[in-house]
Amino acid sequence: MKQIKQLDIEKIRNDFPILSQKVNGKNLIYLDNSATSQKPQKVIDAITEYYKSYNSNVHRAIHSLGEKATLKFEEAHEKVAKFINAEKEEIIFTRNTTESLNLLAYSLGKNITSKDNVVITEMEHHSNIIPWQQLCKRTGAELRYIKIDKEGKLDLKNTPIDNNTKIVSIAHVSNVLGTINPVKEIANIAHKNKALFIVDGAQSVPHIKVDVKDIEVDFLAFSGHKMLGPTGIGVLYGKKEYLKKMNPVFFGGGMISNVTKEDAQWADIPNKFEAGTPNIEGAIALASAIEYLENLGMDSINSYVKDLTTYAMKKLLELNNITIYGPENGDRTALISFNLIGIHPHDVAQLLDKEGIAVRAGHMCAKPLMQVMDTQSVCRASFYFYNTKQEVDFLADSLKKVQGVFK
Ligand code: ALA
Repeated sequence: MKQIKQLDIEKIRNDFPILSQKVNGKNLIYLDNSATSQKPQKVIDAITEYYKSYNSNVHRAIHSLGEKATLKFEEAHEKVAKFINAEKEEIIFTRNTTESLNLLAYSLGKNITSKDNVVITEMEHHSNIIPWQQLCKRTGAELRYIKIDKEGKLDLKNTPIDNNTKIVSIAHVSNVLGTINPVKEIANIAHKNKALFIVDGAQSVPHIKVDVKDIEVDFLAFSGHKMLGPTGIGVLYGKKEYLKKMNPVFFGGGMISNVTKEDAQWADIPNKFEAGTPNIEGAIALASAIEYLENLGMDSINSYVKDLTTYAMKKLLELNNITIYGPENGDRTALISFNLIGIHPHDVAQLLDKEGIAVRAGHMCAKPLMQVMDTQSVCRASFYFYNTKQEVDFLADSLKKVQGVFK
């Protein structure tokens, strides 16, 4: 059996300056990692280093600063590509998962007709719903949903995927239920029906070693800021055979091979999809974030966070009058959504904040899923490798305190 390196959490926590502060007079316990992760000093340094010593535009300058910026920006494509077992030209930098999925919906939309359908699931967040809703409105295609069962897992025995399905787009990990979806199995169903298979990796890539060849995905979207990188940098991976045939959706500088007064021709991939000055510092800092993650080891991160989530589940299940959403154990990771019965999640989050605990409360940008779950909103505690069992204990104790306040 493969040995998994144990993480030294105390040492790791020292790499994250934000974690040592007090909030409302209490030690900060940051449990909102599914919304955005914190950043290690290494990533913060990569950003300041860029602005302090080689800030310059990429792909345009002959001077030394421009060459260094271009080299580091190109290396960032390469670093991301290796991280998910892709090729450099298959990595497009976007702003975030949402922009990656919108880019796909626009570019692939050109081949969709009113006879076709697009399949997503009931557990998607808005990023992986609205671009497809809009595409279906533009083309007359039908938007179909794979249903979830009572446990919060996808019902794969009854998928609406058929010969007219052109696109299947699903979350790898649900941002509300924590469910890890069996992407390989769904890839198989999609490909048997000749549909393109897209995975929203916003909640999986930060936690699980994702290999695009292994999961047989045609496109993968994810965000830098949920995996230690800065905001404003995201990734769209696409199989080069598809990217080469697809049209760009943003037009301007940096994405052309030639322009005349009348017309333009496009550069090769990935430049064809990266119009305008990109988020240079974001890409470079994302590469630095990936180095940090690789240094810890994705298997170690996944194992630690899964274990912590299992522990948190046990602690929360010990509370009375709590509803927990999603599978109780097994194929889930990194986050737990819950409601304290009779107490509004916003009140819970506000009282937890007084204890220094940051959780998210609301509809989690997944309103259709809230409808299926028969609730308006939930509280969500979401974990990363710098969180500890002591923090989880404090969360559970603080939730008891909240229940006491509302008795
Ligand atoms: N989708 C992000 C979340 O779950 C913003 O919080």
